[in-house]
Amino acid sequence: MPLFDHFALIARFYDRIFTRVNLEQIHEQLAMPANRLLDVGGGTGRVSGRLTGAQTVIVIDPSTAMLRAAGAKNGLQRASAHAERLPFPDNSIDRVLVVDAFHHFCDQEPAAGELLRVLAPGGRLVIEEPNIELWPVKLLALGERLALMGSRFYRPDAIRRMLEMHGGQVTVHTDDSINMWIIAEKPATA
Ligand SMILES: C[S@@+](CC[C@H](N)C(=O)[O-])C[C@H]1O[C@@H](n2cnc3c(N)ncnc32)[C@H](O)[C@@H]1O
Repeated sequence: MPLFDHFALIARFYDRIFTRVNLEQIHEQLAMPANRLLDVGGGTGRVSGRLTGAQTVIVIDPSTAMLRAAGAKNGLQRASAHAERLPFPDNSIDRVLVVDAFHHFCDQEPAAGELLRVLAPGGRLVIEEPNIELWPVKLLALGERLALMGSRFYRPDAIRRMLEMHGGQVTVHTDDSINMWIIAEKPATA
């Protein structure tokens, strides 16, 4: 657990600091449209607040400051919760999104289980995460360690294994940025 909520310090300015987001790519990876989209560690709704194609978008984040900054952006629903304990029934969400947040979770293995537990059969989980195999991300990880943020960056194969353990059918790919994409589908028969 981090000592305090680092994100509270920048919540009000977050969307102005972090402007890079590839909405088209996220939209495509999520295979939109969908009924319910859950953005876990969604913070200010910077990403899901601008995505189209879901009837209901719910942002989950433990930081009340980040959620406050999300306001009611584009009709977003918000709830304060941790990824390790999602307040949703099994198989209830069509799409789950995690952007730049997986390494911030307190405990990634149970969180991976939760992401797949709430996902509906035939649904899709998309994780966009800095790729710790690249040196700029190693530097970022060092910076976050020095700032006592409690982050834990996992290699792509480790995240793949966590999701496969919980029944996800996983593909991993990189793009020309520092990020990797981990896509997990829950078989329709699960
Ligand atoms: C770098 S921000 C990314 C926010 C958003 N996904 C985006 O791309 O704009 C990471 C977010 O993860 C959240 N977070 C930290 N620990 C978490 C946990 N255990 N479960 C869910 N979210 C968490 C933080 O509060 C923060 O809002």
